[in-house]
Amino acid sequence: MSIRKAVVTAAGWGTRFLPATKAQPKETLPLVDRPIIQYVIEEAVASGIEQIIIVTAWGKRAIEDHFDRSFELEHALEKKGDLERLAEVRRISSLADICYLRQKEQLGLGHAISTTRCLIGDEPFAVFLPDDIIDGEEPCMKQMVQVYDRYKCSVVAVQSVPPDAVDKYGIIEPRPMSERVYQVMSVVEKPHPHEAPSNLGIVGRYILTPEIFEMLDRTPPGKGGEVQLTDGLQLLIQRQAVYGYEFVGTRYDAGTPLGFLKASVDLALRRPDIGPEFRRYLQTLNLSDGHNVDSVREEHESSAKG
Ligand code: G1P
Repeated sequence: MSIRKAVVTAAGWGTRFLPATKAQPKETLPLVDRPIIQYVIEEAVASGIEQIIIVTAWGKRAIEDHFDRSFELEHALEKKGDLERLAEVRRISSLADICYLRQKEQLGLGHAISTTRCLIGDEPFAVFLPDDIIDGEEPCMKQMVQVYDRYKCSVVAVQSVPPDAVDKYGIIEPRPMSERVYQVMSVVEKPHPHEAPSNLGIVGRYILTPEIFEMLDRTPPGKGGEVQLTDGLQLLIQRQAVYGYEFVGTRYDAGTPLGFLKASVDLALRRPDIGPEFRRYLQTLNLSDGHNVDSVREEHESSAKG
C-alpha cells in the first residue's frame, strides 16, 4: 500500500512570529497571496495524498474556514462576474478530503502525531509541518513517496544545515545507502553542536509506519519538556529501519519572520503575474553595503508618482 493519508500539524502557538500570531494562526499568514498551510496541502495533493488530517487547537478556526465552502463569498464574486477568483475559491474548498482534530494540550510534536492514531489506523502515513515550505520542480513529498515505495519503511526528509544551527533540528546519524538516501542509525533532537552525529537535519516532512504510535506511547517528554517525534523515531529505529532522504528543492522556515520574508520574495519572483514587475522594483533598490535604502525607495516612489 502506498501513502494515502497525511497529518498536517497546526496546533502550535507560533511564538516565533509574535505578535502577528497573537490573534491569527501562523498557518494562515499569507505567502504572496496564499496562506502558508495551503502550500503544504497542495504539496500533499500533488504527491497523491487523498485524506488529510489537520491537527488544530484553540484559536485556529480560520484554517477550517479557509478550506470550507463560502457560499456568501462565492455569490458575491459571481455577482461581480469575477469568475477567475470564483474558480480559485471553489478549487480551494475541494482540494482534498480534510478532517480536523483538536490537540487539547500542546504537549509536543510527538503528542500531536499520537492523537491522530484513531484516524490513521494501521497504515503508513505522511506528516507535514507547515512552517517548512519546500519549493521545487517535483514536490518533496512525492520524492519521499518514491523512496517509501522502494524501501517500505519510514522516511524522514533531511538537508545539510550549518554546523552552528544543528541545535535547531533533529539530527540524524547517517549510513549512506544510495543516491540521497541514508539509513538512520540514530537520531537526536536539537543536539549541542559538539554532540551532533552529523549536520543532516530533519525538515518537516516524514513518512511514518503505523508502529510509530506504539513508540510514541512509550516516549517520555524530552527536549523542552515536550513529547518529541524525534525520540519516538529513535525507539522505532531499534525495531525497524528508518531512512533519511536528502530531497531536491529549496526549503524555507516560514515560521520565523526572516525565513518568511525570504520565501515571500522568492515565491513572488517566480509568479508569472507579479514576478516581472516585482523584479524590476527590487532592481531599483541598490542594496550594496552602506547604501541608504530609504533614499533609493524615496527616489522610486517619486518616480512612480511622477
Ligand atoms: C521540529 C522537530 C525537529 C525538526 C524540525 C524541522 O522542531 O522537532 O526535529 O528538525 O521540526 O522543522 P521545531 O522546529 O518545531 O522546534
